[in-house]
Order: sequence, then C-alpha cells, then structure tokens
Amino acid sequence: MIISHISDIHLPITVQPSFSDLLNKRLFGYINHTSNRKKIHDIENLKMIFHDILKNPDGHTILTGDIVNLSLRSEFESASDFLGSYFPKEKLSIIPGNHDNYVKCNYEDSMYMLRRYTSDNSDHRQGSLFPYLKLINDIAIVGISTAVTSPPLMSWGRVSEIQLNAITEILHSLSKDNYFIILLLHHPLHEFGFLNFKGLLNKNSLIKILNDFNINLILHGHLHTESQKKISLKDVDVPCFGAPSTSRADGGKLTFLKYNIDKVNDKWRLKVYRRSYIMQTKKFETQILMSNTYD
Ligand SMILES: [Fe+2]
Repeated sequence: MIISHISDIHLPITVQPSFSDLLNKRLFGYINHTSNRKKIHDIENLKMIFHDILKNPDGHTILTGDIVNLSLRSEFESASDFLGSYFPKEKLSIIPGNHDNYVKCNYEDSMYMLRRYTSDNSDHRQGSLFPYLKLINDIAIVGISTAVTSPPLMSWGRVSEIQLNAITEILHSLSKDNYFIILLLHHPLHEFGFLNFKGLLNKNSLIKILNDFNINLILHGHLHTESQKKISLKDVDVPCFGAPSTSRADGGKLTFLKYNIDKVNDKWRLKVYRRSYIMQTKKFETQILMSNTYD
C-alpha cells in the first residue's frame, strides 16, 4: 500500500470576507494572508503534486491539516469542490489544523463540510468527527483533531479529554490484531515555538496513552518544513514524520512524503520516501529516507 502525505495546503481565499467576518482574530490572519501567505502558497503547485500522486490509482492520500486560512464558510466550500475534483472519499483522509478552527464558527460551516474525508469506516462509534478510525485492509488510520481556537499570533493545539478517552478505546480495540497503526495529528509531538506556544499543549497526556499501545507511525504537519523524528513508546522508537507545506515551493522544489507499507512473513515493513518536483528541470525525483521492519 502506498500512502502519500501532504499538509498545510492553505488554499487561496477566493471570496472577499465581509466586514463582519473580520471583526475577530480573522483580521490579523487576513492581513497576514494578503501581505504574506497569499504569495507563498500557490494552488498550481498543489495541482502538480496531485497529478503525480494520482498516477497511482491504488494509493491513499493523507492531508494533515491547515487546509484553509481563516475558517470562512466560503473557504470550506471551495476546499470541498477543489479536493472533490481530485479525490473520491475513500482515497483521502484529512484532519484539521489550527487554521481550520481559526475562530469559533457554526458546526455546519466548518470542517463538517469535508466530513466525507473524515468518515469512520470501522464499527467504531460516531458522534463527533474526531477521532476517526479508517481501516484500509490491515492498515488502521486514526485521525485526531488538535485544532482549537487560540488568541491572535498563537497557534497551539490541544487534544480534548473526550478525544483522549476515545483514542484509548480505539487503540484498545485494535490491539488484539496485527494492524499497522498510523496516527494523524496536525501538531507535532515535540515542542514547537517559544514555551511550546505553537505546539501541542497537552502532548504529555496523549503520549501517556500512546505508551500503552503499539503504534507504528505518527504523521503531522504544522511546521511547513519536513521533519523526521522518533518518539520512544513502550521502549520502541516510533517514526514521526512531518510533511512540508505542499503548496509552497522551497529552494525551487515542491515536496511531499510517501510511505510504502507492506507485510512480509507477518511482519510489517515500512519504507519512507521524499518525492520532489524540481522546478528548474521540471522533473520529479525520489529519495529514500527510511526503511524499517517491525518485530
Ligand atoms: Fe498549523
């Protein structure tokens, strides 16, 4: 199974926000967007990557948050149309980032509009959108929301108590079988920013739960640059990968990550690749980042 990992796509704002839309934290975000982000994140870059990803019709794609910018209803409508023109619901799994829960808004006007990509296809509970459990053969994708509203200039995340309990339940239900378990969360499990003000505030509560289970891979976004780390859970080093912003060219390259996951003699094997589009040569290149067999 090939999984492609994209993140922080920050789709363009195509409908001018109204005056009342901006009477909150969105004003700061809108100024930042028009003066800075708008020039950095280019939807044409994304289209280039999507075409490459979709050359493999059997693969699955994971998008680890920050799909929009200001959490406007019109942004989620555009995101639903744009993503829908490339990915049927069974081909994409998404989780929200801090920009997808930028200010408090009506549930129906929010990530709810992208719920087809967060649907739980297991027999597990369903009430709120997160966490969800998606089973693709023996691969279990657990999508967690760390997206909470924060004051202007802050971008921290938090996993709610309700989600922590549900994550425990999901992982417990998976522990009886040999699933390859992938956790998705927007914020990384390591510190980020001064006093972790851009990071996951209650990461230790989540890590404490994860310590009781076999986790195979943790994927995140938020940093806008590629990240490779390991976290020790149950005395095993679990790989953690952060995908760079997929809509942003960095050093003349567009980059996303690919995970080749298969089972040989009942042991899971993971190979991780960096796939880059080189703008100067107009060609893609692939580099292997890691190869791991799980005992
Ligand atoms: Fe973020």
